[in-house]
Parts: sequence; structure tokens; C-alpha cells
Amino acid sequence: MKILLLGSGGREHALALKLRASSAAVELVSAPGSDALAELGACAKLDLEKPAEVAQWCAAHRPDLVVAGPEVPLVAGVADAVRALGIPVFGHDAATAHLEGSKAFAKAFMQRHGIPTAASHTISDLAAGEALIRGWAHGYPIVLKADGLAAGKGVVLAQTQTEALETFRAFMAGQFGDASRTVVFEAPLVGMELSLHVLVDVDAGHAAYALLPACQDHKRIFDDDRGPNTGGMGAFGPLPFLSPEDIERMRTDLVEPTVKGLQKDGLVARGVLFLGVMWTAKGPELLEYNVRFGDPETQVLMQLLDEDLASLLLEVAEGRFVARPLKLKPHTAIAVVLAAEDYPEGARKGVPIHVGEPAVTLIHAGTRKQDGQWLTNGGRVMNLATSAPDLTAARAAIEAALPQVHWPGMQVRRDIGLKALRHAQAGKTIQDAW
Ligand code: AMP
Ligand code: GLY
Repeated sequence: MKILLLGSGGREHALALKLRASSAAVELVSAPGSDALAELGACAKLDLEKPAEVAQWCAAHRPDLVVAGPEVPLVAGVADAVRALGIPVFGHDAATAHLEGSKAFAKAFMQRHGIPTAASHTISDLAAGEALIRGWAHGYPIVLKADGLAAGKGVVLAQTQTEALETFRAFMAGQFGDASRTVVFEAPLVGMELSLHVLVDVDAGHAAYALLPACQDHKRIFDDDRGPNTGGMGAFGPLPFLSPEDIERMRTDLVEPTVKGLQKDGLVARGVLFLGVMWTAKGPELLEYNVRFGDPETQVLMQLLDEDLASLLLEVAEGRFVARPLKLKPHTAIAVVLAAEDYPEGARKGVPIHVGEPAVTLIHAGTRKQDGQWLTNGGRVMNLATSAPDLTAARAAIEAALPQVHWPGMQVRRDIGLKALRHAQAGKTIQDAW
């Protein structure tokens, strides 16, 4: 099976390793790929924001399946363009990708279909927004979200009226171009955040989906959730204290109405939806939709999934997925990010990496190879990922592997999963204060 994988980061490297482990012989091509992905197959220098360019390559090379990593190509319409050639794509059409591409669209979708979420106002007018902030009655922080894609930087939790006004004015002045000229204001939600991935194969006449294990990301750069936000410094899953009833609650409250909503709105979904969930005192509420796998959540999920990934994704892409529980290892998995010096403000590139022999999966996220030597080449450089019978053992396996991979200035969180482990050991549940 010839597979074109779109993307270049750690998520894609984890997907590529799993695709290559599929039973059918897989010929992998990554676009644009990376030096690490080049060790698993060819790389094609494609601009993923140009649907016509990707489609032209597909018309010439006829892959059996295209798998989209990031959201940008989906929002740009790459899946539409490739599907028009009759080539199956694991990844949503632009209309559905709008659920991530526009926060205003996503909020309206949630409200229309009765999905629990924070109260919100969508504003595109400076005076109206300033008046809303001055009369804000939902408590602090005021959550401001740039409507469009802003590379994960478009959400600000303003602690004061002054900060909210400054943020709003910067957004409206085009801090993220047109993406921030519409702003979604949200009431703050308090609780425990988790990442719920759902494979979705939905059209007017067919609605099949399957839940993947709930994971938890760690967004701040430093231990104990201190310091600035990052793309994610490590994740683990499943959460040890999440009961089958809790999962069922997320399925009925969030996933079912999402799937029915897609059908009612005439949206086709062939890929994954990643629900950002806040479990509040009232139960699970939806923070956001992502129309792609999370990073580093994917690195965790690929450790747990006990399926032939290429045929699973092809079933979804071809619209013939039949709902069933996915085969999973009865394990807990963990992925720890090794980040560059200066991340997340910047990233010190070109630093030689010592790569020993870790007894866990080594995933490349932002690396390049020069004269046989791996160098740092991004903020999130590598991940160590593994699974074990429980979270304690998985954490210990990562700790044992850590001395094998390092470079001067490397940053790593040593507490991935620790807060959840303590929560579980104290006999607490998802309903208890986090
Ligand atoms: P989003 O991209 O919408 O998930 O927002 C990024 C992050 O901001 C989330 O992962 C949450 O940690 C936080 N966040 C977003 N919306 C809210 C909210 N209404 N209340 C509290 N935190 C939020
Ligand atoms: N780990 C969060 C994300 O992929 O958006």
C-alpha cells in the first residue's frame, strides 16, 4: 500500500512508525517530511497550503491513501482536492475542518447542537468588544480567542480588565492577521483538562465512530505547570481514575451530539476529531475541536493502539468503517518531550544531540541530520515514548531512558503524569478538585 503522509513533526513520525508496522507492505512517502521521516520512506517537497500542488502530486503518483497530520492543509482544502481524484484521504474536507479553523464556527456548532461549552460572545467590532469587556459579568479570567488559526497562540486568559482590553485591541489590529479580527469571548471554565480523540466516519447515510483512550497533555514548559504555554511538553493516557461511566458521559454528552450535528449540518467527516475537554463541576464541557491528532497525544495513542493502522485509517478514509471498540494494549502510555533551549520563546537550532540507546521508542519532532549527526532543528526536538502495565511503571521506564538522549540546554519535564498519579493514589475521581 502506497501512503502519502502529510506533515513533518513528532506526530507524523509516530504515525509513520506505526504505519510501517502494518501487516500490508507499506510504501511511505512523507510531505514535506524530515530527515527522520526520510529514513522510513521518500520525502516529497510539497507546499501543504496549496491543494492544487498536493493534488497534482497525487494524480501523478496515485497513492492508495493520504493521511493528513496537521490542520493547516485540511483547512486549506487539501483533502477536498485529493478526494476529487478518487483517492481516499484520512482527513476532513475544508467545510468540516472549519471546526478547528474558526472558533466562532465551532462555538455556533456546539450551541446549535446542545453541546455543553462555556458561555460566549463572538465579536468583530471594536466598540462592541470594549463595551463587552467593561460590562463583563462572567468572572475572570476573560478568555479571548482569535477566531482563525494562530499556530496555537490565539487564546489569551486575561486576568484583568486592562489586560483584556489590550489583548482585544491587539487582536483587532491584526496581531494574527484576519484570523484575529473576529474574537470569541468565553466565560472561564474551571476543572481538569483532557484530550479525547475520536475516529469519525460520518456522512448523510452513515455514522460510525470509535473513541480512543482519553489522554492528558502538559502545556506549560516547567514542572508543576509553571512557566509559559507550549505546544505540549508531554502526555499520557489513559487517565487512571477515569471510570467507564465517565467515558460514557463524554460519549453521550459530547461525542454523540457532535456526530448527529455533523449529519444535520450536512458535513462529512473522515478522519479524527480531537475534543479538548474541561471536566467541570457540572461535568464534561467542550473547550474546542481539533480536526487532527494531537501532538504529543498521538505518540501516546500509537503506543496503545493494537490495530493495523494502515487498514484502520483506510477504512475511515473510504467511508466503510464499522463502529467497534478499537483493540488496545491494556497499558498506560507516556510520551515526554525533549525541547530545545529557549523554547517556547524561540528554539536554539543546530545543537548536536547525543543519541544513545534508549530502551523506549525514540521519536523525532524537530531534528535534522548533517554528516551522520542529529542536530536540534525546532522547539520540540524529540520525544521518548513507551507503555507499561501502569502509569508508575511507564514513568519509570522513561526516567531510565532519559540519560540516553541529551544535548546542552535540553529542557524536559520530569512530572508528566505525576499529578494524575497522585490524584489516583489519593482515591480521587474526575469529580474531585484537581
Ligand atoms: P483552545 O485552543 O480553545 O483549547 O484553548 C487553549 C487553552 O486555553 C486550552 O487548552 C485551555 O487550557 C485554555 N482555555 C480555553 N478556553 C478556556 C475556557 N473557557 N476556560 C478556561 N480555560 C480555557
Ligand atoms: N497537544 C495539543 C495539540 O495538539 O493541540
